[in-house]
Order: sequence, then C-alpha cells, then structure tokens
Amino acid sequence: MSILIKDNIYWVGAIDWNLRDFHGYVTGRGATYNSYLILDDKITLVDTVKSTLLGDLLANISHLVDPQKIDYLICNHIEKDHSSSIPDLMRIAPNVKIFATKMARIGLNKYYGNLPIETVKTGDILKLGKKVLQFIEIPMIHWPDSMMSYIPQDGLLLSNDAFGQHIATSKRFDDEVNRADVMYEAGKYFANLLTHLAPLIQNALNKIDELKLSIDMIAPSHGVIWRSFPGDIIAAYRDWCSFTTREKVLIIYDTMWQATETIAKILLDTIINAGIDAKLLKLRETHRSDVMSELLDARGLFLGSPTIHRTMFPTVADLVCYMQGLKPQKKIAAAFGSFGWSGEAVPMLTDALKNMDLSVIEPGIKVQYMPDSDDKERIRTFASDMIARIKHQ
Ligand code: FEO
Repeated sequence: MSILIKDNIYWVGAIDWNLRDFHGYVTGRGATYNSYLILDDKITLVDTVKSTLLGDLLANISHLVDPQKIDYLICNHIEKDHSSSIPDLMRIAPNVKIFATKMARIGLNKYYGNLPIETVKTGDILKLGKKVLQFIEIPMIHWPDSMMSYIPQDGLLLSNDAFGQHIATSKRFDDEVNRADVMYEAGKYFANLLTHLAPLIQNALNKIDELKLSIDMIAPSHGVIWRSFPGDIIAAYRDWCSFTTREKVLIIYDTMWQATETIAKILLDTIINAGIDAKLLKLRETHRSDVMSELLDARGLFLGSPTIHRTMFPTVADLVCYMQGLKPQKKIAAAFGSFGWSGEAVPMLTDALKNMDLSVIEPGIKVQYMPDSDDKERIRTFASDMIARIKHQ
C-alpha cells in the first residue's frame, strides 16, 4: 500500500497493528512507522520502519519504484523504530546516501557500523530536483539526533516523532478518523515521551515560527498525517508545553485491605460534590502510561499508598519512578494512605512529590487501620484544601 500525500510524495510506511508495548508505554491501539518516498530526480526515502516490518516498507516502495533505485535516505531520527531497517535497506540499495545530523551519524555508526552519511544541520538545503528538503534540527525531540525535514514547494513538514500518535488505522489522514481518538493518543504520546522535554519542544515551535515556515501539512513518523488540522496539533503542543491545566483532580492509589481505597473514595466524593471533575484510578488496574495521559491536563493529584514493609506499595513506587523521569509540572499534589503501626508511605510520597517540584499540600493525610468518623472529617477537610487551591489557580 502506498498513499499519495502530496505531488509525487507517498506514504510507504508500515502499520504495527498488534503492538501493545512501546518501551514500557501501553499502545492499546497499535502504532505505525511512517516512511515517505519522494519521487524526483533523486529518489528519496524519509525514514525507514522497525526492522520486523521491513517487508511491508519494501512492498510499498515497490508499487512505485524499484527499491534499488533509491538515491537518498533521510534519517530524521535514529531510534530503532525508524532506523533498524537501514542495514537491510543498504544491502538492497547499496548506493544510497544517508543524510542525518552530526549526532545521528555517531549513533548510526555505533548501531550499524560505518555508513555513507553526509551530516546536515539547521538551514541546510538538499536539492532533489524540482523539490528541495530544508533541515531543522530538533535536539531531544525525541533524542539528541532528531531533526525535521521541510519541503517548501508543498508546505510539508516531515516532523518525525513530533506531533505523532500511536494509533494503527487503515486511514492515513486526520480528517478520515475519529479526531477525539487521535487527539487523545497525541496527548498520551506527549505525556509519556515528551513531557520532560517541554522547554525544548517550545524552542522547536519557536524555531518553526522564526523560520516562517508555511505549513500546509504535517507528516509525523507515527500515526495519522495532519492534513486538515495541522493548526490543532500545534496549538495542543503549545498548551502541553506550557502545562496548561483545567479543574480536574486525579486520585491515584493502590490498596491492600481497602483502607487506602476508602480514603480515596471520600476524597473523590468531596471533589465531585464541589463541582470539580475527578477521576479515581487504582494502580493495579491502570497502567502507568494511562495515568500519565490522564495527568496531562489535571490540576490536582492525590497519590495514595498503604504502608507495606515500612515503605510505599510497589505499584505506587513504580509510578513515582516514572513520574520523576517525565517531570509533569504545575500540579497541586498531596499524599494519603493507611497504615497499621509505622506509616512511612505518606511522608515518603510527600517527599517524592516535593522533589518533583510540584506544589505539595503538607502534611499528607494518614489513617490508621480504617477511617473512623473523625478521620473521615479530616479527609473531607484535606480535600477542601485541594478544592480551594484548584479554584484559586
Ligand atoms: Fe519514534 Fe524516538 O522514535
């Protein structure tokens, strides 16, 4: 299958229908690895696919041209979902010349041995014939080597990981699929891969503005192509980079004998009764990547754990570790939990939230064994403190 996206430019990528785990991130709807073939005086492939799907890439290219005739390969990013087909492609098309950033050359040579690579940087232009490619480095979106390629003749931005979504679909364009699903997956992708890189992404967005690129279409390396709504995804990235939130509180917890769960439900009822959107998620039933997705636009976070073996529950520790790496910002956070005789989990969680530079309500709330009527009143007061801060921000 090859799909025309612009004059003489085709999607020739691969659809990974059954992918459910992308380095620890749950991809419930699968994924795609988007490659683009430009038919010009120089036949140019932009990015490859995960090596397990090389056959699909070659079949898609073969509908249009003999893969041996590819002249140029643009490697926008070396992570293996885009680069691991390169060694086999080089065996099929040994005269291919690769264009990549200086950092990408280091990585490609470490991964695959010496390859014929010409390094490029922001502002460099590669003439293909009637079309040219203009390169824009976007370090750390998603790795230090990353870049975008822009075709001014078509207003086409080949954005690699930026603006992507993990969603497998038979359709290739944003206006052919459910937009809410695509925006949800774009947000989940940002929340799980890019949150900690928000300042750098903001720089990249500013760079696009400075270069005055006229963008008619954004073709990322994952998911659908932004043909009708490129402005929507750029606006969403601006919101996510500035950690825009709404009146929404997450109550994330795990529980052993339902005491911490009882606290969680009192917090939930109090928040909902105040007219604020809230969501309750138990970690043994909810993957950390779905929690991060829900956290993207949440202003408040209650994180709860019972104390077990003088520490927090393992599923909660797992989430804390994940959050520490992703660094969500501008949240009001508080810890809660039950205990039997020592009660270390809540102060440990409070410290962890403070170390993430969140705005933390201290001290967290601890309940021995099971909430009694006094405890329930303390919990409601604790939730009211969160409500006041949520409404004030
Ligand atoms: Fe889609 Fe960072 O690779």
